[in-house]
Amino acid sequence: MDSPVSRTETSSSSVANQRVLVLDFGSQYAQLIARRVREQHVFCEIVRHDITAEQIRQHAPRGLILSGGPSSVYEPKAPRCDPKLFELGLPILGICYGMQLACDALGGRVDNCPNREYGPAKLQLVNHSDLFDGIPETTDVWMSHGDQVTRVSDDFTALARTSTCPIAAVKHRELPVYGLQFHPEVTHTPLGSLILRNFLMVVCGCEGTWRLGDFANETVQQIRRQVGDARVICGLSGGVDSSVTAALLYQAIGAQLSCILVDNGLLRKDEKAAVISEFTNHFHADLHVVTAEDKFLADLEGITDPTEKRRRIGRCFIECFASEAQEIQNARFLAQGTLYPDVIESGAAADGPAATIKLHHNVGGLPDELGFELIEPLRDLFKDEVRRLGLELGLPEDIVWRHPFPGPGLAVRCLGEITRDRLEVLREADAIAVNEIKAAGLYRDTAQAFVVLLPVQSVGVMGDSPTYDNAVALRCVNTDDFMTADWSRLPYDVLARISTRIINEVKGVNRVCYDISSKPPATIEWE
Ligand code: XMP
Repeated sequence: MDSPVSRTETSSSSVANQRVLVLDFGSQYAQLIARRVREQHVFCEIVRHDITAEQIRQHAPRGLILSGGPSSVYEPKAPRCDPKLFELGLPILGICYGMQLACDALGGRVDNCPNREYGPAKLQLVNHSDLFDGIPETTDVWMSHGDQVTRVSDDFTALARTSTCPIAAVKHRELPVYGLQFHPEVTHTPLGSLILRNFLMVVCGCEGTWRLGDFANETVQQIRRQVGDARVICGLSGGVDSSVTAALLYQAIGAQLSCILVDNGLLRKDEKAAVISEFTNHFHADLHVVTAEDKFLADLEGITDPTEKRRRIGRCFIECFASEAQEIQNARFLAQGTLYPDVIESGAAADGPAATIKLHHNVGGLPDELGFELIEPLRDLFKDEVRRLGLELGLPEDIVWRHPFPGPGLAVRCLGEITRDRLEVLREADAIAVNEIKAAGLYRDTAQAFVVLLPVQSVGVMGDSPTYDNAVALRCVNTDDFMTADWSRLPYDVLARISTRIINEVKGVNRVCYDISSKPPATIEWE
């Protein structure tokens, strides 16, 4: 365990020899573009907008997509790309800002338009192009721009228009450079996937052969080569990311994998048992369960400040994990379930202009001082891909579709002081709510659903007796990215069942409230 920590890039270069790069100009949709490309079975990576032509050559992509972005190309500080990009002979598709940039670089003019367009528009094709194969002459598209290309050089042909945007799609006459003012990657452009598909298959000549199964097989081979006969440690939390990481590693190295589950006493009902059963009965992995409830609860005694709770839990976790890991012989690697959005959001790899804006709680983990080399086999995948991979690896739906759960666990849902009794109330109420949502068939339609125990007592009446008991809040949200979220419009009868059952079955609760705040301005968790 004395080797310095080094981040091992489990790059998919061998996995995906037909790849497309998305140059990120700060678009909120860069990740969505990448997902749409992968949905066409073409591997795709997001890279910085200022990547050089030479670096691009090293990636050997089949094509490039220039993303949208919030800037205006005529501003002095606007992000630009290496002009040599256009000399590479590679197919290039500029989307929104990307189109404006390409036109500007190749002799066109971009201006702020009098009619800013945000929302649906009717696109009318005016010239045929392979990009629009199979697209009717008039089609619905989604616009979101203040600037537009007002003039193109003679080198370009205008392909389409809308009522307020005369140049809504272009193609260069000589170079394989295309531009779309609208967003083909959003679902509000119903035929957007076909347009992207045309770019990938017809223009770039991709075959669409990238498959998750191939990814898994090649990653397994890669892990075996990298690990040799050393041992790999993987922390298990019960969440989908760590479970899929462990399942993939188990497939790669079987008995050389040691999993550590730290029972901090802050897990959901039956969570520990489910993890133990899955990883011992199904995968027969070497599983170390650290029973540390007493340690965590003692450390949290009297603490009500959310930041301090997180700090103490983080410290206790590291102590427990490190001490267990030290007992494991020949351990050289530490596996973590870092996903592609974490990599982008934390700026660890692609760090485009949008990257630094978002810093997520889920990034972080164990400190470098532990002295392991990191293996992050999921760092090229999106969450939905990880879920599909989990199912392919044989994990049960219950684990694969489990809602995200914060590292500090129930501690940040138990507002005020954390005691064994309060945690028990919370755990029971939470289990009832989640089970009722599952029974109503709404679990997968909800991104996160949980109960929060409030530090509030209120008056009630049960039977003939007055009560003065706890209030709990039910929090259910819908979101794709967890950066913004809306509260779930659950049917009243489901809410009623949850409330009745919690009040009847959980001793110590006499009131259930439903949280109807969106994020922002509220957050998903209460602490
Ligand atoms: P918020 O509450 O910021 O949560 O809207 C966004 C997402 O992050 C999760 N979350 C955390 N995850 N450690 C984690 O690992 C944390 O401290 C933490 N706080 C929030 C939250 O559950 C939601 O999915």
